[in-house]
Amino acid sequence: MERDDSGRALIGGVPVDEVLARAGAPTPAYVYDVAAMAAEARALTAGFGDAPHLVAYAVKANSAGCVVHALAQAGCGAEVGSRGELAVALGVGISPASICFNGVAKSNEEIDAAITAGLAAIQIDAIEEVARIDARAAALGRKARISLRLNPSIQADTHAHIATGHDDAKFGIAVARLADAFAAVDAAANLTLVGLSSHIGSQLTRTDEYLAAADHLFAIVREREARRGRHLELLDVGGGFGIDYGDGCTARPADFAAGAAERARRAGYGDRTLVVEPGRALVGPHGVLVAGVVTVKRSAAWRWLVIDAGMNDLLRPALYGARHRVQATGGVGGEIAYRVVGPVCESSCDFGEWRLSDPPPTRVLLRDAGAYGYTMASHYNGRALPAEVFVLSGGEIRMSRAGGVDAWIDDRLRA
Ligand code: LLP
Repeated sequence: MERDDSGRALIGGVPVDEVLARAGAPTPAYVYDVAAMAAEARALTAGFGDAPHLVAYAVKANSAGCVVHALAQAGCGAEVGSRGELAVALGVGISPASICFNGVAKSNEEIDAAITAGLAAIQIDAIEEVARIDARAAALGRKARISLRLNPSIQADTHAHIATGHDDAKFGIAVARLADAFAAVDAAANLTLVGLSSHIGSQLTRTDEYLAAADHLFAIVREREARRGRHLELLDVGGGFGIDYGDGCTARPADFAAGAAERARRAGYGDRTLVVEPGRALVGPHGVLVAGVVTVKRSAAWRWLVIDAGMNDLLRPALYGARHRVQATGGVGGEIAYRVVGPVCESSCDFGEWRLSDPPPTRVLLRDAGAYGYTMASHYNGRALPAEVFVLSGGEIRMSRAGGVDAWIDDRLRA
């Protein structure tokens, strides 16, 4: 992460501690460099060269309005998985024609919202969903643009919780059932098949599996079009581009884009709209979670650094064993090993072992927390949601503190 000459961590060129002071933000707080997120989107887009494409930003990674808006300004559409995410994408001005809707359990309300908005594609996840979406479209007197989400039977080399394209995953339509799925769609009067999609998982640190899935998808397009003529305009190869959490990630987002564009061209589909659905890669590296140090305590085994951010604020370490580098806001390393833990009443509220100074800093940051941080936060243990501070281009600073604990107390007392 960027630091100034005296070692202070910078977000958008401003020292993190100064950002918090200017915003009047408490800890824990997420701090994001929104301009860097937009720059990330532009760098990814460059990977496509002149191939027609849609970068459908996966809103689940970070759904803050100013983040989604900045990515839209940088040319992104959106991939959404709920009515809430759809409303954010539309609310910041993304055209419905640049939005895809995914999900294994779409409610009728969500299907209706997607059909009414006229999205680029509702991605059908199961044959069983075809009749329901057809019926909703009929009831609304509309034709729904749909694509079929293929499960390509590829085991991606990533954490088991976030691998989605293998035989044991709940996602997508198994290859063996695709012919039936096509037949069901062809028989549905109110559906227009506009594309095919797949998404094999998240935090992919190499491109080979992703490109194998893309090749598989193009082969199915070929078979389908040989039978039914040409009509698939959206070839969606999904998201999943990994970032470097400290253990390395050689593949850059643009490598996935360039690789997929090259495969599409070789397959003869260079004129179709190639869709990718990145979330993490656009926002993850450009956010930190800032925490205050509460105390240091000693046990036989450890020197514990107890901080005011917990697993309710950043769930990834507890859920996936993820490691987010912990560093002082005022300097990188240190001489002493601490086990960094938070306040929640679970032993998994633990951010791992990190070296910091002795005595410890008063504030630390957890790096690479711009994706799947705030969006997975909860009120567990009766805690507030963390604050969010956005450093916008031009240096403007904005804060959101929507998840205060008072609303939670009212809600619980009413229940
Ligand atoms: N498209 C679909 C259909 C998805 O399900 C996802 C993520 C994406 C795109 C975006 O994937 P990305 O480019 O961000 O890897 N909470 C986990 C990640 C879960 C990803 C869920 N789906 C984590 O913190 O690692």
